[in-house]
Amino acid sequence: MKINFQETTKDLQVRIDIHNQFGGKNIDEWMLDLLKLEKGINILDVACGAGKQIISFYNELDGNCSITGGDVSQELLDQAQEEVNKRKMKAVNIIELDFNKPFPIEDNQFDLVSCCFAIYYAQDIPFTIKEIHRVLKPGGRLFTTGPMPENKQLFYDIIREATNDKPIPPMPGSSRYNFEIRETIEGLFSKTEVNRFNNPLTFASPEPFLAYTRASLSEDRKLWKDFFSGEDDFETVMAKIGKAAKRRAETDGKLVMEKVVGGFVATK
Ligand SMILES: C[S@@+](CC[C@H](N)C(=O)[O-])C[C@H]1O[C@@H](n2cnc3c(N)ncnc32)[C@H](O)[C@@H]1O
Repeated sequence: MKINFQETTKDLQVRIDIHNQFGGKNIDEWMLDLLKLEKGINILDVACGAGKQIISFYNELDGNCSITGGDVSQELLDQAQEEVNKRKMKAVNIIELDFNKPFPIEDNQFDLVSCCFAIYYAQDIPFTIKEIHRVLKPGGRLFTTGPMPENKQLFYDIIREATNDKPIPPMPGSSRYNFEIRETIEGLFSKTEVNRFNNPLTFASPEPFLAYTRASLSEDRKLWKDFFSGEDDFETVMAKIGKAAKRRAETDGKLVMEKVVGGFVATK
């Protein structure tokens, strides 16, 4: 499957900020609690974006670790490098890494490879997961996150209501993560644990929900071509979504969108 996906700095940051502001729980705390990292380890963060997980790992280990962060977006790599410089982080390397190509890394290097909210954009899932497996040390762990099928039901409910039940194309994440990706990991690694993070985002008014929807669809809508074709262009559909969200907020007094994230921990 060929998916051309490049996150922009702005959309990613909008979604991260909305989670921080309206979510009851902190996903980084959940991740660190699951992983119980040991000092001195060598970490690769694949699709590191602006460096969110790199910063969490580094702080958790008080800098007692080596971290390589790789991404395909130069814009996000620049931002990650800026964070590293600003925080004077030592032994952190930011590199260009396209997970659709062989990683520029030798075999058996890392104790942990993380890949958060990204692996479902890979063109060839078995290829990318084999590359991750190859660069892990024996006994090393892969940690990935992605949306489970029941993720953000309200988002789909409101879009359905706004469009009179027009069939919604699959989102790349929730349609692949707990299926093709989980199966590939289970087939390749000696042990795979499936964990869940449930985080309701509670909005008192429709505006932040709409900002989230816009930042979510701005890239994914390239894959929803039929949905936004002809008269139903993006802004027309967004206006209908706005009305449906307002109606729902008036009826229910608030909007609650539950994020349901899977965290797979697999051992080589
Ligand atoms: C939703 S962001 C997640 C970023 C970061 N892990 C986080 O959680 O903040 C998805 C990331 O996947 C990256 N990405 C997309 N295609 C990629 C590819 N072929 N190789 C490496 N990274 C890719 C994007 O540039 C973006 O940084």
